Amino acid sequence: MKKKDFDSSRRNFMRNSLALGTLLANEWFRPAPVIANCAKTPRETAGPFYPLRYPIDKDNDLTFLNDKSGKAEGERIFISGRVQNEGCEPVRGALVEIWQACSTGRYNHPRDPNKARLDPHFQYWGKALTDEKGEYGFKTVKPGSYPASWFWTRPPHIHFMIQSKQHAPFTTQMYFAGEPLNEKDKLLQGHPKTEQQKCIVAFGKVKGEKVGIFNITLT
Ligand SMILES: [Fe+2]
Repeated sequence: MKKKDFDSSRRNFMRNSLALGTLLANEWFRPAPVIANCAKTPRETAGPFYPLRYPIDKDNDLTFLNDKSGKAEGERIFISGRVQNEGCEPVRGALVEIWQACSTGRYNHPRDPNKARLDPHFQYWGKALTDEKGEYGFKTVKPGSYPASWFWTRPPHIHFMIQSKQHAPFTTQMYFAGEPLNEKDKLLQGHPKTEQQKCIVAFGKVKGEKVGIFNITLT
């Protein structure tokens, strides 16, 4: 993303923050706990499905597109976390982008060969800026798994890209704890077990909502 876009993101985020203020003021969006071990998060490639065009909504609520009367299908989830450096210091003002498949496992990308149905109400991509504490938050739906080839099904995952003034662009993927497909995934299993755990998030219920914390350590 170019500097102009980055600045525009910052302005949009301020607006979106106000719009999402009520949403994110819930209990789940309390500061993510600072993890004692700020060892770097494993890097993964951006993959082939980073959007060619951004959706009409460019915010951190992916569960509807422009019109709240049409809701994305699937299980609603909240993800929050802290972007930090290896000294456990918060990375402020970092642009956090996510992109993912909808609940059927389909990306909104012309090169996705998956024939699964697209969800017209899902935003597929979102962005947030980290605050003074390095924290970000997203509301989205759990992505479906999808075939990467005839012998490989990717487990549910969400792609992340972080850009900040102090760090080179960083891409990784967040996985869901307890998914049997995690054990067979070529990308996730390409990391040692201890590294894998840094990208696998266990979701819990807070006030009836499914909430996960994904802290990201940049080098
Ligand atoms: Fe993917």
